[in-house]
Amino acid sequence: MKIFITGASSGIGEALAFEYVKRHGSGKTFIGLSARRSEYLQKIKQKLASNDQVQCITYPLDVRDHTALTNAANQFIAQFGAPDVVIACAGVSSGTLTEHAEDTVAFQAIMDINVIGLVNTFQPFINAMRQAGQGQLVGIASVAGVRGLPGAGAYSASKAAAIAYLESLRVEMQHHNIAVTTIAPGYIRTPMTDINTYTMPFLMDVDIAAHKFVDAIECKRRFVVIPWQMGWVAKLMRFIPPVLWDFLAKNAPHKKRIPLA
Ligand SMILES: NC(=O)c1ccc[n+]([C@@H]2O[C@H](COP(=O)([O-])OP(=O)(O)OC[C@H]3O[C@@H](n4cnc5c(N)ncnc54)[C@H](OP(=O)(O)O)[C@@H]3O)[C@@H](O)[C@H]2O)c1
Repeated sequence: MKIFITGASSGIGEALAFEYVKRHGSGKTFIGLSARRSEYLQKIKQKLASNDQVQCITYPLDVRDHTALTNAANQFIAQFGAPDVVIACAGVSSGTLTEHAEDTVAFQAIMDINVIGLVNTFQPFINAMRQAGQGQLVGIASVAGVRGLPGAGAYSASKAAAIAYLESLRVEMQHHNIAVTTIAPGYIRTPMTDINTYTMPFLMDVDIAAHKFVDAIECKRRFVVIPWQMGWVAKLMRFIPPVLWDFLAKNAPHKKRIPLA
């Protein structure tokens, strides 16, 4: 099993790495872990290395850097061959308000990391997967991409773009026998949600979430919302007419605005 994961230094990405080793660690497992914080990746690598079937390489990089991702992908492919699964999990979230000029920096960062980061992650692996005649690309979107959430214009827009982009990619990749899975999480307990002060319905622990994510990936689901209760919420949200959405969402709590660059 050969897996490459971005956003692997914490939260969902880290939990996915451990979930893959738990499932497949009895056979040879090759894992590429990527994120910016090298020291976090090293600690995870050390823990994973307690299983001698696991070979792990870390790639400290920023997903906005296309060249860095191309180099990482080339190194991974040279060492292990084409990956079976590439998971683009890196992402950032912050509240943003268009009326604040200083938030334009956060708008740019969120769009670049959450949308262009997906493209940068997948692009350098596609040729090798095509040659291998198989592979799977997994993008982590969000229920926040289903409707525009107040106070989170950048995050909602980025995840809506991610959902549409991943769907385009999924249709394109059919010709190459490469599966594309979009996972739209609801609330998962990670450092990203730990700062939220409001109630998070159906909040799920990250190890349980990772188990369900890998189930969905292995079933080659096209689009899945996890936890399933949020799947029903997302379906409802999609069909609510704008006038009703405006009424319901008007006083929704806002995510904290944090400086991003
Ligand atoms: N938790 C939730 O409830 C929830 C819900 C819906 C969607 N999601 C999505 O799930 C994904 C993972 O989030 P999480 O909850 O696990 O949050 P997290 O614990 O904050 O993890 C985010 C990961 O992304 C990496 N990252 C951020 N910016 C990056 C950049 N510019 N380049 C490379 N890596 C970068 C971080 O590593 P470094 O800081 O070390 O780079 C970290 O490993 C995100 O895409 C998020 O939007 C989460």
